[in-house]
Amino acid sequence: MSTRRTFLKTSLAAGAGVLAAGISAVQAKSDAAAAPKFAAGLIYTKDNPGKWAKKVGSHAPSVKVEGTKVTVTTDHGMSEKHFIVRHTIVTPAGDVLAEKTFMPSDEAVSVFEIEGKHPVLYASSFCNKHDLWVSEFSVS
Ligand SMILES: [Fe+2]
Repeated sequence: MSTRRTFLKTSLAAGAGVLAAGISAVQAKSDAAAAPKFAAGLIYTKDNPGKWAKKVGSHAPSVKVEGTKVTVTTDHGMSEKHFIVRHTIVTPAGDVLAEKTFMPSDEAVSVFEIEGKHPVLYASSFCNKHDLWVSEFSVS
């Protein structure tokens, strides 16, 4: 069990660091008036799946917003060896507004209450085999 905890802690810390680095890359690109784009090879998106092009449908998180209720779903199987570890909701400044950690026996669905207006937010989904995926959305 401690091995699993160590793995999860390491994975989650790595995921948060990668997402922060990716957001910095987005801000740098935005400052350069270029289209926002996450750092290739660090964060994968539906439009930039990199080496995981065949994994888009099962890894890019989908987001449904109903008022303040935000539902994040990753259409991915869950098993002991291969599963979605975590969802987060992150602002462009890197503030984590909400997060949920999964066990292999869970479904990769999370429901959050996000207050206020947010023209840009990021939902992340971390797979233990296929890295960190991000989808952009807004709450108005
Ligand atoms: Fe996966």
